Amino acid sequence: MSDLDTLVRTATAEFAAAPTPAELENAKARFLGKAGRVTGLLKALGALPVEQKKTRGAEINEAKARIEAALQARRDALAEAELDAQLKAQALDVTLPGRRRGGGGLHPVSRTLARIEAIFASMGFDVAEGPEIETDWMSFTALNNPENHPARSMQDTFYVDMKDAEGRWLNLRPHTSPMQVRYARAHAAKHAAAEAAGQPVPEIRVIAPGRVYRVDSDATHSPMFHQVEGLWIGENVSFKDLKVVFTGFVREFFETSDFDVRFRPSFFPFTEPSAEIDIAFGHGPLAGRWLEVAGSGQVHPNVVRNYGLDPEHHIGFAFGMGGDRMAMLRYGIDDLRMMFDGDLRFLAQFR
Ligand code: PHE
Repeated sequence: MSDLDTLVRTATAEFAAAPTPAELENAKARFLGKAGRVTGLLKALGALPVEQKKTRGAEINEAKARIEAALQARRDALAEAELDAQLKAQALDVTLPGRRRGGGGLHPVSRTLARIEAIFASMGFDVAEGPEIETDWMSFTALNNPENHPARSMQDTFYVDMKDAEGRWLNLRPHTSPMQVRYARAHAAKHAAAEAAGQPVPEIRVIAPGRVYRVDSDATHSPMFHQVEGLWIGENVSFKDLKVVFTGFVREFFETSDFDVRFRPSFFPFTEPSAEIDIAFGHGPLAGRWLEVAGSGQVHPNVVRNYGLDPEHHIGFAFGMGGDRMAMLRYGIDDLRMMFDGDLRFLAQFR
């Protein structure tokens, strides 16, 4: 083997042994650099006799070309290896399970309201919703609260420092009772027409669920809470009907007949007589305790007049039930604030 073959082999071996591009460049310098071995051989040519210069020169150039080819091959191999490593590092494992979106669910209050709506709908009640920013007139005056009467302060109302187009003060409704008036007035014309035509007068039978607001906050009171208003007005709708409807509702809602209902005399300006509705279960953790679930009463004639109806011919009952209270009783929740904290550990239990 010629000295040049040996040189090519040595260079190829050293290139192959260089683990990184930088070390490969160092190895290149040892052979092809200014002080490298190939350069040394070419310099030595000068000392040769003329007739040998040509062949030796050609041989050295040929060896140099092979070394350069080996260098390039190693460079390519290193670049490819680096690319491989990079790709591996960034690789996507398409067999990994995807990240799922967390499963959502209805809030316990929403579930409860939907349940209440479904039960009353099955008893022929319409479901209506109305504004949470109300006029003073709807929240109080139409409901037989005389202006400046102390009964207005039974509710710690949030007033809005603003009047509507007709100059009436606005408030965050402190109860859903304005919906009695709004709904009845929306249907009063239909009633009047039927009455004038001598036809049987249509009844009003509606529930109105929604948010209400009061300046009040502790374990059992929240400044925002939910009520479900109920109203049934007909020619001869009485407290007896209220008792039947409400008791039937409670039976359906709690899926039990093991409870008592009591009507406890109370006062509301818009009903006469008025009663709080209490229930007591015969079983379970709350057995035997009277729990207040609604205010109620026969609608006051002044209010019926504000519906746009004649109180001589249109009578009936109204009630206002605590929506959050019903959710808490159904799910056994004892702190109202949990309902509105938005803590997923609590809410996920209702998915
Ligand atoms: N609006 C009353 C309240 O907020 C409840 C009620 C409604 C009472 C309808 C009688 C009739 O407490």
